[in-house]
Amino acid sequence: MMYAYYYSFYSTIFAVKIKLKTVYSLIPMCLTYFLLSAILSGKLRYQSIRRSSMTTEARPPVRWGILSTANIATKVARAIHLAENSDLVAVASRTEERAATWGKEHNVPVTYGTYDSLLADESLDAIYIPLPPSLHAEWTIKAAEHGKHVLCEKPLAANADEAIAMADACRQNGVQLMDGVMWVHHERTAAMKQKITDATLGQLRRVTAAFTFNWDTIPVGNIRAMKEFAGGSLGDLGYYCICAILWAFDDMPAQVFATARYKVGVDFNLAGILWFSDERIATLDCGFDTGLRKWFEVAGTRASIVCDDFTVPTSEDSARFWVHGMDGNERNTIDGCIQEVAMIERFSQIVQSGNLEAHWSEVAVNTMRVCDALLESHQRGEIIKL
Ligand SMILES: NC(=O)c1ccc[n+]([C@@H]2O[C@H](COP(=O)([O-])OP(=O)(O)OC[C@H]3O[C@@H](n4cnc5c(N)ncnc54)[C@H](OP(=O)(O)O)[C@@H]3O)[C@@H](O)[C@H]2O)c1
Repeated sequence: MMYAYYYSFYSTIFAVKIKLKTVYSLIPMCLTYFLLSAILSGKLRYQSIRRSSMTTEARPPVRWGILSTANIATKVARAIHLAENSDLVAVASRTEERAATWGKEHNVPVTYGTYDSLLADESLDAIYIPLPPSLHAEWTIKAAEHGKHVLCEKPLAANADEAIAMADACRQNGVQLMDGVMWVHHERTAAMKQKITDATLGQLRRVTAAFTFNWDTIPVGNIRAMKEFAGGSLGDLGYYCICAILWAFDDMPAQVFATARYKVGVDFNLAGILWFSDERIATLDCGFDTGLRKWFEVAGTRASIVCDDFTVPTSEDSARFWVHGMDGNERNTIDGCIQEVAMIERFSQIVQSGNLEAHWSEVAVNTMRVCDALLESHQRGEIIKL
């Protein structure tokens, strides 16, 4: 809805601009018409609301660089182009040729043949890191030491110790750290949180979350199936489920248990239980061996929320969730939010404002701590206390 209003508002301005250029004599009439129609339709009011909630709008756009030509970088490059407070300036690859080809395809003006040379570019403010998880710590820490803000893909790191070192490095260098989990930035997430925190669900009891997809054949060279890149279903998929559980309960579990099956050296699937205070329990399952599922349920004593596509809404135009209660199911929809654009705009707002938000790295580090505890539980065959 926000984007629809926003773009339609600027289309109106654009149309008026053309008219001004061609029909000078109509300037006063056009302006009067524009002002009256804008006031009447409430768009000026919308703009002023948007301005007051985005106090950094007048500042120059944040200048982004991307470290590697990863598959996911295509989606995020589009998001940076669409984001109103961000410019995509540079991309680096391990070869200059790949960087140049990718840069041309994705409209990125500056290309580098090494990651180090991109980090040395003093014109860049923020770096997006979509490298394999085993490389996240090394390059996040280097980026922080170059004074760059870091949006690093999930899982934040190969383990919690690395994640803590990344958060420390960013804090010490005065830069923001955030993981690349996109769904938390969708307006739908705020709408669901509202239902969780108001009286709708009653007292919270359960969160159940699943994220799976199926590989009939394990693809050779895929980073998810490679131990040396810190692959595995928990980091790749279960990370989102843990993120949803911590988000819904706004708490850390007291203890966890998990069972996993390993193939080609990585956890190919995993099922886990997380115990929280106040009679709250969460379960999750993730794996590369079951058809696509990306849902969660948050259940309370009175009602529950069901979101069947929480990681990525099935449609960019409209995202849905349901409240299941005694009187039936209420369908809720949120229109016109592109979650990866919302993520980039949020990150750039933080950079522009200079007010760093520790919350983002804390959540990511906590998610890694739960990942570690679940894997330890599987390995030891016992409940692990956190
Ligand atoms: N947030 C999301 O929705 C989302 C979705 C998908 C993936 N991800 C995450 O994003 C990250 C990347 O995933 P992806 O599937 O996009 O990965 P990918 O396509 O395999 O790309 C990884 C990139 O890392 C670079 N790289 C550096 N050293 C490498 C090495 N030794 N071997 C292979 N590649 C190397 C390569 O770029 P150059 O050749 O250009 O240097 C490669 O293109 C992962 O952490 C993943 O979990 C997030």
